[in-house]
Amino acid sequence: MESDRLEDIYIDDLSVKVCGEYTYYPEAVATEFVDTSDYPSLKEEYKDYFRIGTATSPNLLDKEPYAKIIKAQYNSMTLGNSFKPDSILDHNKTVRDVEKYMYSPAVKFDAVKTELDFARDNGLTVRGHTLVWHSQTPEWLFYKNYDIGGELADRETMLARMENYIKNVMEWTEENYPGLVRAWDVVNEAADDGGGMRKSLWYQTVGEDYIEQAFMFARKYAPEGTKLFYNDYNSYQTRKQNDIITFLRPVVEAGNIDGMGMQSHINVNINITLYMAALQKYYDELGLEINVTELDVCRGKGDNWQQEQGDYYKKFMSEILKLRKNGVPITSVTLWGISDTDSWISSDYPLIFNDDLSRKPAFDGMIEAVKNQE
Ligand code: XIL
Repeated sequence: MESDRLEDIYIDDLSVKVCGEYTYYPEAVATEFVDTSDYPSLKEEYKDYFRIGTATSPNLLDKEPYAKIIKAQYNSMTLGNSFKPDSILDHNKTVRDVEKYMYSPAVKFDAVKTELDFARDNGLTVRGHTLVWHSQTPEWLFYKNYDIGGELADRETMLARMENYIKNVMEWTEENYPGLVRAWDVVNEAADDGGGMRKSLWYQTVGEDYIEQAFMFARKYAPEGTKLFYNDYNSYQTRKQNDIITFLRPVVEAGNIDGMGMQSHINVNINITLYMAALQKYYDELGLEINVTELDVCRGKGDNWQQEQGDYYKKFMSEILKLRKNGVPITSVTLWGISDTDSWISSDYPLIFNDDLSRKPAFDGMIEAVKNQE
């Protein structure tokens, strides 16, 4: 920016747009890992209550210490990125023959195999994440002839693309890994933080019934017994919760949804009573099963943050267990990653293991919660 006069320059209406897609693939940075074989096991301790899961990344699974701790601690996993539309949709193939793929974009599954093989070979079940989302979904999907220089595609075209995408992903998965995926996050993050529905490209092209449509297609192609979930963050906040309940009600009435996924990217200052009341309400109002799908708890600022965070994890899990005992069908709790380094928000140190896989008070808190139930 240049000016030949010495004046103040004000910039307004600045907007920044992401070009292309960005996915953070976590790395393990520790060079030495501790021996984790004598740790108590979360999946064992919680086996009478619900599954305990983690988010994975293909490049961590071939690291022995990681593979070992996942096998010992968890009986559920969520592919952290590999099942998302930007990893499944095949742009090159689609645009090479637009006529052929007009209503059914080409898909490829190379990215999911490492993680699905690992799950199958080690007896973990999988939460499929995610089918219909505004993020990590390529923009070209939403355009007429897949040309982002042109206009958005019409409703009928987008409904067909949605249906075929869901069909292709579900059918491929069931054919190649029968029974492995026990739940799908069919729609992710449809609520707008400012209230109402997010005006995503799905919303703009299909219209405000896109959630109902997505669940209808998902039910049509999901194998018998596979659970269908809606998933969102901050879904414990009163206003967001009310919006979610409003737009899920018709889906519930149509019989096309089974569960509510609480992402739960939270921090040590979030009121646990409020959070638990929200879980109770999803069950009371919609009769949905509950999964905590992406738990991580950002640390506080004080010197004693490790202990404070440990206490929080303990209290959180104690209350989850209590709610379950009182009849709220909580069927899994998944942590969003293994150690603080492989977390998507690693600078907040939100997980239960340190970089070298030594256990944090957060891990001990989760174990204590289940051992010392009231
Ligand atoms: C995150 C992944 O962990 C990152 O690796 C990626 O770069 C961005 O997405 N809500 C979701 C998850 O539903 O899919 C997101 O995962 C975290 C927020």
